[in-house]
Amino acid sequence: MKPRQPIIITILIVLGLISGAFFMFTQSSEFFSSAIFWVTLVLGGVVVFINNSLNKLIDIKKYNMLTEEEKEEYKRLLKIPYFQRLKQSAVEKQGDKDEKDMIIDHGFDGILELDNALPKWWLGLFYFGVAYCIIYLTSYAFTEFAHPYAEYDKEVAQANIEIEEYWKNAPKITIDNAEYNPDNIAEGKQLFETTCVSCHKEGGAGGIGPNLTDDYWINIKEKGLFKNVFYMVYNGSENNPAMRAFGKDGEIPGRDIEKIAAYVYYINQDIPNIAGGAAPQGEKATWNDAR
Ligand code: HEC
Repeated sequence: MKPRQPIIITILIVLGLISGAFFMFTQSSEFFSSAIFWVTLVLGGVVVFINNSLNKLIDIKKYNMLTEEEKEEYKRLLKIPYFQRLKQSAVEKQGDKDEKDMIIDHGFDGILELDNALPKWWLGLFYFGVAYCIIYLTSYAFTEFAHPYAEYDKEVAQANIEIEEYWKNAPKITIDNAEYNPDNIAEGKQLFETTCVSCHKEGGAGGIGPNLTDDYWINIKEKGLFKNVFYMVYNGSENNPAMRAFGKDGEIPGRDIEKIAAYVYYINQDIPNIAGGAAPQGEKATWNDAR
C-alpha cells in the first residue's frame, strides 16, 4: 500500500485543467470574471473533496488489513516528503523484493518476464495527453480556437483596418502632385480593365468612349497628356455624362487615377494608334512636354 497524493496537489491539477479548458474555449482570460467559471471551479473542488473522503475510508480499511511489517513500511513512506516520493516512484527502479512479486508465471529457459508497472511520469504524460486531446479537439471543432480560417479572417480584417488607416494619413494624390511613373502602368492596366474597358474597349481602342491611342482629343484641359487624362478621370466630361467624374464623385481615389493615367499615357505614347481602333474624334493635340 502506498500513500496517496496530497489533496492540495489534486486541487492544483483540477484548477489548471479547468482554467486551461476555459482559455481554449473562450480565447481570452476574461473567463476569470464569469460566473460559469467559478461555479465549475467550486463543483470541481466539491468532487475532489468527496473523492478524498472516499479514499480516506478505503485507506483505513486497507491499512487494517496490512501485516505489521507492511504497516511499518507504510508509515516509513508517509514520512518521506511528497515530491521526493514522487521522484523516487517516477525515476527510480524498484528493488529486488518488489520484482519477486511481479514475475509472470510463464518463464522459459531461466528467462523470466516481469509485470512491471508503467513509469508514473509516462502514465502522467499519457493522461495529460488524453485530456489535452479531448479539450483541444472539442474546442477546435466547436469554437474558433486555433481555427486557421477564423485566424486568417481576423488577420485580414486587422490588415485592412491598418491599410485604411495608412491611406487616411498618406498624402492625397491630386492633379497637382500626380506624376507619371512607368512602374504604375501594370496596375493602371488592371484598373483600366475593371472600370474603363466597358466604354473605351480593350487597350483604349474606343467604343462608346473615344479612342485613347490616337492624337485626336475632344477634351484638351491640360498642357500635358498625363495631366489631361488625370483631369478627365477626376472631373469627367462636360459634354457627355457617360464619362463621369470618377475622382470628384469619390469612385476612384487619386492614387488609382495616377496609375490609370500612367497606363493611358503609355498606350497613347508607346503603342499609339491601336489596330482596328475607333475613328479619331476632336482635334489633333500637341502636348507640350507630353506629360
Ligand atoms: C460609361 C462609359 C465610359 C466609361 C466607363 C469611361 N469613359 Fe472615358 N469617356 C467616355 C465618353 C463618352 C467620352 C467622351 C466625352 C466627351 O465627348 O467629352 C470619354 C472621354 C474620356 C477621355 C477624354 C478623351 C477625349 O478625347 O477627350 C479620357 C481620357 C477618358 N474618357 C478616360 C477614361 C478612363 C481612364 C476611364 C476609366 C476610369 C473611363 N474613361 C471610363 C465614356 C466612358
